[in-house]
Amino acid sequence: MLDLIYRIPDQLKYGWKTAAEIIGSIPARPPRSLAVCGMGGSGISGDLIRGLLLQTSTIPVEVIKDYSLPGWIDKDWFAVVISYSGNTEETLSLWEELSSRGVPRMVVTSGGKLEKLVQDSHVPVVKIPGGNPPRASVGYLFSPLLRLVHHWGLYPDASDELDFTVNMIRSRMAKWEDEARSLAESIENKFPIIHVLEPRFLPVGYRFSCQLNENSKALAHVHVYSEMNHNEIMGFEGGVGEDLAVVVLDPGDGFLHPRNRKRERIVSNILPPSLPACTIKAEGDSLLERFFSLLVKCDLVSVFLAEITGVDPLPVDSIERLKKELG
Ligand code: PA5
Repeated sequence: MLDLIYRIPDQLKYGWKTAAEIIGSIPARPPRSLAVCGMGGSGISGDLIRGLLLQTSTIPVEVIKDYSLPGWIDKDWFAVVISYSGNTEETLSLWEELSSRGVPRMVVTSGGKLEKLVQDSHVPVVKIPGGNPPRASVGYLFSPLLRLVHHWGLYPDASDELDFTVNMIRSRMAKWEDEARSLAESIENKFPIIHVLEPRFLPVGYRFSCQLNENSKALAHVHVYSEMNHNEIMGFEGGVGEDLAVVVLDPGDGFLHPRNRKRERIVSNILPPSLPACTIKAEGDSLLERFFSLLVKCDLVSVFLAEITGVDPLPVDSIERLKKELG
């Protein structure tokens, strides 16, 4: 899994390049709204793009993780159907509903039933390399989405920011490994409570909790400032025992509302002093660098936690068993 994290920069470049021609065939005028339809390690790319666009996009972005579409999605929307395997039943069900509502679409997949279904339509497909766990293919899955919103003018700096991001990950990975190892040690045998300081970075926190689930075979909880200041903060009054640890995800100044920085300082004094707390900080100048520096560091923590606790980060037996028994 560690070597797959090292491949994220190449994946980002590959997906960006491969999607160019296909996305060029899509009308340049943005739709009324964008829906990204996909589950788990595929759907997270929709969450990331939504977070990235949250404060600047002129159109809403919705991520659908279900068998059924919300009632308000119609042919004025554009949907991206995203499934690494192409065999995820909820995503295939969404494909059918999108077809019957006549919603314009694009597909990102490595193959499977989805690719076969698309063969009978004129829907553009970005085909990405298969054979890896979906969660370890985030670069392949995310960059076609980035290219799409760039094509519509919704993220004008995408091309430059992607280059900066790729270079930054390549040059800082070794340093991040050291940081991640000591972080993993500090949450060993603890239940991590992930607090994300800024709502648009919540998808990175959610990805972290999913990586802890799947790579480290550990449970985790994620919440976001300032909402958690209005409810969850009270839960700590009931006592925290010895098995909790707070991990703060900090997007860094310039990407953080100043009031959330102030909230962080106050909350750190309100939480019980016995509660272990650590911070993972984003790096880089651009929003995309901040997203991916945090994401990669969190991925590394999940793999090192697996190493420390002696579990294999690759297999996801329970997910596979469930899919098999569902038939
Ligand atoms: O990480 C995983 O294996 C899962 O979260 C899958 O991504 C999820 O089950 C959906 O499968 P796919 O990404 O192939 O659509």
